[in-house]
This record gives sequence, structure tokens and C-alpha cells, in this order.
Amino acid sequence: EKGGFDHFMLKEIHEQPKAYRDTMLGRMDESGRKVVLPELKLTQEQIKNIRNVQIVACGTAYHAGLVGRSVIEEMVRIPVENDVASEYRYRSPIVTPETLVIVVSQSGETADTLAALREAQSHGAHVLAITNVVGSSIAREANDVLGTLAGPEIAVASTKAYTSQLIAFYLFGLYLAQVRGTMTEDAVAEVIAAMEALPEQVESMLTNAESIKGYAEQIAEHENLFFIGRGQDYAVAQEGSLKLKEISYIHSEAYAAGELKHGTLALIEEGIPVIALATQEAVLEKTVSNIKEVKARGAEVMAITYEEHVAGLLKSVDQAFAIPKTLPILTAAVSVVPLQLLAYYASLARGNDVDKPRNLAKSVTVE
Ligand code: F6R
Repeated sequence: EKGGFDHFMLKEIHEQPKAYRDTMLGRMDESGRKVVLPELKLTQEQIKNIRNVQIVACGTAYHAGLVGRSVIEEMVRIPVENDVASEYRYRSPIVTPETLVIVVSQSGETADTLAALREAQSHGAHVLAITNVVGSSIAREANDVLGTLAGPEIAVASTKAYTSQLIAFYLFGLYLAQVRGTMTEDAVAEVIAAMEALPEQVESMLTNAESIKGYAEQIAEHENLFFIGRGQDYAVAQEGSLKLKEISYIHSEAYAAGELKHGTLALIEEGIPVIALATQEAVLEKTVSNIKEVKARGAEVMAITYEEHVAGLLKSVDQAFAIPKTLPILTAAVSVVPLQLLAYYASLARGNDVDKPRNLAKSVTVE
């Protein structure tokens, strides 16, 4: 049942290239220049009238929404807010019929996310669900469903569901951009081509999965560590940190790299591991200065970056892990993979039950 893998989590990490392909299948037209989402009820008229987007979810699905926000804002130039469902539903959110609410849920059964969906609908909003389970409560009650085709996810720690949610956001962002005319056909085609390359890029990284094991064993000796990054790197840092806490029980915090010096830098001491995501080229120099800030206080820094930046970064960091090059807007679908593996091998090194971490359930149907 685990298909030759020691754990469901590792199997599901390796299923990501297939999950990407399946989630994209039939959603790009043959010319490769257009996204088609015939399953959506949302009309062109409604899309043109959207004034703001709210993305609501819990946990890892919330982290996918953070990436979704930057994707939609950049592609469509509509304001997007992110909320965790348990906050959204109680904060009297400002929702109008011109608000598009996107709920994200692997299981489609998360109680707070379902309640947030109902709250949004009670204000007349159209709710789009990005979910992996088409027969779920959230899928049934949403006005629209954009299914992820990750297949069943058994491990408590979500991996392929998260990355498939990213693919869904890329597709949906492009679709909105087509209807609202915020991207040229060539620009859309460029993103589609880069998306089509993602499965092979992840496959190539996975053939080398064990290369991060040594570093994972190193961090397994620590009780505290930090993830830093800017922009989408920060969104991915948050997901990497959650994954690590969840299964290795190592305490970690994800910080926007530029925010560290506003307090948290006080926690950096000799030997503390800092994992720096440094893929976003527009802010690379800024991230490097933040790396220098923690290095100067004794941190041991591991950078995750593109091959072409490894040599440069090695002047300021202790180790670097290279990921395949993609467009900045798509990086999360590549850069999260080494972080999933890091959490997996750190959990293994600590002798934990990787697939069933303590205190947690796969589907959270309590509020
Ligand atoms: C973490 C994890 C959880 C879920 C969260 C929402 O690895 O799996 O944080 O993402 O409980 O679950 P769904 O997506 O089913 O609504």
C-alpha cells in the first residue's frame, strides 16, 4: 500500500509530479496558450465585477492561500486578503456580492473552513472551493469547485495536497487574468510552458531526495531554528516551518527576512540553524543582507536557491541546496519540496511516527 516507500508521507512527496500533471490535465487548451476551466459556474460578467478576493483556510491550506494571494495579485491586480478560517468567521468580515471568497481544504471537511464558507455565502459572496475531495461537505456547499487531483492523502502532514493547491491557484489566476485582460496571451503562454515543466523538475529533484538527509540529521539535534524569506519565499518558509514542527517536534519560526531585526534577532545565538529561502531574484540582495545579520550573530545558515546563485551565496552561508529554475511566480511548487523532505528526514532521525504525529488528526471536524 505504501508502494515500496517506508512511509505514506514519502510516497506522497514522490507522487507530486503526478499530482501536478493530473491537476493540470484538460485545463490548458491544445495551443498551450490558454487556461480552460469549463467546470466553473462563475460567469465572465461576475469575474469582471470582482472587487476583492478573500482566501480562507486552515494550516497548510492557509499557507497555499498565501501563495495564491501573491499569484492573484500579480496576475490580476485585484486586492486579496488571507484569513485563517477560525478567525475569519468571528471577525465580521467585510463581504459583498462583488467579493470572491476562495476556501481551500484538502479534506473538504474542516469545520472552521465550512463555517467560513457559510458566513461568506450569507453575505451574498460567490464561494469557490479548492478541494481534493469532490464529494465533501465543502465541495457540496460551495458555489464552485476547482478540484485538485492529488489522489488520497493518507499521511497527516500534507504534501501533495498543498502543491496541487498551488497548481490550482496558478490555473485560476491565469483564468481570471484572461477574462479581465490583465495579462497578454504571450505572458499567459509563458506561465503555462513553465507550469508544464514543473513535474519533470520536481521529479529530477526527487531522484536526489536523500541528499538533504545529512542536513536533516544535523538539525534533528536542535530544539529551535528559524526559516527566513521574502515574498513567496516567506510564504513557503511558513509552510516549511509548520511541516517541521508537526512531525519532528522541533520548534521553529518562519520570519519575513526583513522583519527579523525588529525583535526576533535577539533569539539568534551561536550555532542556531537558519534556513534561508533565497529564490526571489527581485529581493535577493536584500535577503543576502538579512543572512549576513544572522551569520554575524553565529547562526549556521542553509540557503535554498537556484543553481546559478549557489556559488554567490556560499560566500555568506554555510550550505546551499539548489533547486531547478522556474518563474518567480511558480517557485513555491519547487522550493517547498526540499522542506518537506527536511521535515521527513528530521522526524525519522528523531524516531517519531512520521505518518501519525502526536496530538494531530488528518481531518479536523471540531471547531
Ligand atoms: C498540516 C496539515 C493541516 C491541514 C489543515 C486543513 O500538514 O495537514 O494543517 O492543512 O488541518 O485541512 P484541510 O485542508 O483538510 O481543510
